[in-house]
Amino acid sequence: MTTPQHKIGSGFGARSTADDVLHGIDLAGKLAIVTGGYSGIGLETTRALAGAGARVVVPARRREAAEEAVGGIGGVEVDELDLADLESVRQFAERFLATGRSVEIVIDSAGIMACPETRVGPGWEAQFATNHLGHYALVNRLWPAVAQGQGRVVSVSSAGHRHAGIRWDDVQFERGYDKWQAYGQAKTANVLFAVQLDALGRDAGVRAFALHPGAILTPLQRHLRKEEMVAAGWIDEDGNALDPTFKTPEQGAATQVWAATSPQLAGMGGVYCEDCDIAELTAEGAGPGVRDYAIDREQAARLWALSAELTGVNAFG
Ligand SMILES: NC(=O)c1ccc[n+]([C@@H]2O[C@H](COP(=O)([O-])OP(=O)(O)OC[C@H]3O[C@@H](n4cnc5c(N)ncnc54)[C@H](OP(=O)(O)O)[C@@H]3O)[C@@H](O)[C@H]2O)c1
Repeated sequence: MTTPQHKIGSGFGARSTADDVLHGIDLAGKLAIVTGGYSGIGLETTRALAGAGARVVVPARRREAAEEAVGGIGGVEVDELDLADLESVRQFAERFLATGRSVEIVIDSAGIMACPETRVGPGWEAQFATNHLGHYALVNRLWPAVAQGQGRVVSVSSAGHRHAGIRWDDVQFERGYDKWQAYGQAKTANVLFAVQLDALGRDAGVRAFALHPGAILTPLQRHLRKEEMVAAGWIDEDGNALDPTFKTPEQGAATQVWAATSPQLAGMGGVYCEDCDIAELTAEGAGPGVRDYAIDREQAARLWALSAELTGVNAFG
């Protein structure tokens, strides 16, 4: 059954931390793969999951930086993965599958935002390729282990999905690039991916969720000029957070950790979450919530087919 896109009254909120939502949850014996698990909210996710007893695999494009970042957190393994390189995705998945282990939690937290026009692989727009196609290929390649784990896949999207839906007539921005439109499309793709994966995977016992973590100052903003962030009211001239709605990394990690582990979501999936609850469907121009085009089932199926064609990978084909 399709899960309604409505709040469930989880009792958690914008200020809850990853440790708060894990209170009383024992993840001993469970394995999590957290992409981007060595920076920003991904690092806090790794720390919280490991703290609750999970074994956490952190695939990194900068292995040494990742080893340094997670050093001292028990139960964490670092491996290599560049999501913008499908051969690297294949090699990581093969190494993981060769270990024969199942995976109970996959959190697709890695991402890039608003970068200058960049082309990867066969000329793909980098935000769509990294944030969506890389994760699409990763989860499909890992599917035997994910299905064995009968767990959850969590796709870290953003309120930025509200900048743009999928530009079906120019997915790779060949007719002019806009960094926010490209981020918006990629983050809409993250939601549609969860919708379709949930539809395809639920009979195998795997459920998928997408989410907006909140706004958190992290290295994600590396492509933005300081003036841009000052003009947006995010920071002052000295780089201090100004917007009172900004979250700490511990709060920013909470919604993805909640989506990955909460018993409150048992039997549910295919929905977009924010502030540690399922979000509401909201109209253009409204504040928080998810836009209709991001959870549209036809577009989700169409994006899956396009992603399969582009990457040559489809665990359900
Ligand atoms: N921070 C926010 O305000 C905010 C708001 C809404 C949504 N989000 C979403 O939250 C997620 C995490 O963001 P964050 O704030 O934690 O950002 P972050 O600190 O920049 O972390 C992103 C991680 O993704 C990794 N990554 C980037 N490109 C990669 C690639 N080609 N292959 C493998 N890994 C790659 C980065 O690795 P390197 O360190 O090696 O570059 C880094 O570890 C993103 O998906 C973002 O869109 C964040």
